[in-house]
Amino acid sequence: MVHLKTALHALIELVCAGTLAIPAPSIPLPPLLVRDVERLNKSILQPALPDLSPGLIANLNGSIEKIKRWDNGMINEDCKKWMTSIGAVNLKTDVEMYNITFSDCAQPWVMCRHKFASYKIDATAVAFARIPVLMRSHIRHVIMLPATNHNGKSISNDLDNVVVMGDPTFHEFVVGVAKSMDSHGFDRTVGPFSKSPKWQSAFDRDTAVPNSLASLNQQENLAQLVAIALYDTHVPNGIKGVVPQWEKIRNQYEEIEKDAFNNEFTEYGEREGLKCKDRARDSEIIPVWRG
Ligand SMILES: *[C@@H]1O[C@H](CO)[C@@H](O)[C@H](O)[C@H]1NC(C)=O
Ligand SMILES: *[C@@H]1O[C@H](CO)[C@@H](O)[C@H](O)[C@H]1NC(C)=O
Ligand SMILES: *[C@@H]1O[C@H](CO)[C@@H](O)[C@H](O)[C@H]1NC(C)=O
Repeated sequence: MVHLKTALHALIELVCAGTLAIPAPSIPLPPLLVRDVERLNKSILQPALPDLSPGLIANLNGSIEKIKRWDNGMINEDCKKWMTSIGAVNLKTDVEMYNITFSDCAQPWVMCRHKFASYKIDATAVAFARIPVLMRSHIRHVIMLPATNHNGKSISNDLDNVVVMGDPTFHEFVVGVAKSMDSHGFDRTVGPFSKSPKWQSAFDRDTAVPNSLASLNQQENLAQLVAIALYDTHVPNGIKGVVPQWEKIRNQYEEIEKDAFNNEFTEYGEREGLKCKDRARDSEIIPVWRG
């Protein structure tokens, strides 16, 4: 068992590196007009939300049981879809498949990595281990792709797959995971929490959004506020310690802290004996050569 405390410093630095930036989208954006309809009509915090990685990393913990590389000529549907989306790729020689087991879940997470991805498998395992187990349970696979042109980095969430390009920060990684919490981490029967009246009401009572990314739409805004709520829950002095204008976004992060399913932010197997549950279903395993 590899405790994070003893994990290589280099890995942690890798996760810490960089600053918050608008991800380079992998799919062409709809015309500006369409995006502007969703754009949120609130000012951005001054100064804008800093990258929360250092505090999150110092206070989140989990442990990796095992990283097992596949060597059986198999891949899964979702990895294949994303790997082939980046152009010419030899699925047999360019893609690494892994099963990563954490101490709080018997069932491993299947992850895949393009051999030129800057995110290494150990760094990904360390980052993923830091996400509390219930929040992590919503994620199907983590898919690591090479940086986009000009070393662009991004994290996206595609049907509960976290797709990593380049070298995003841990904060950005959390935001990628948070989008699945939007769909599954709150007590909702229909639709994402970011579209709920409760969320809209919390938003309406506040006077700002955390950063420019959050102002794009409610889904991005909620994802940033989930990272903030996670920070507020775990880091001594909470978000008030790092955001001078915290009162302007307070109703939003407090709503998340109140409405997220019990223990979504807090529990880890190694500390509380809590295990994963309601894991997202894996995509189908297929031979690499199947057309
Ligand atoms: C945006 O907010 C300002 C200030 O609250 C308000 O005056 C303005 O009408 C709003 N614009 C839209 C398009 O809702
Ligand atoms: C992380 O886990 C280790 C081993 O269980 C423990 O000693 C350490 O105090 C934990 N750190 C935090 C920040 O929870
Ligand atoms: C990896 O884990 C999946 C899901 O538990 C399992 O179906 C598969 O057989 C495992 N593959 C290897 C090579 O261990």
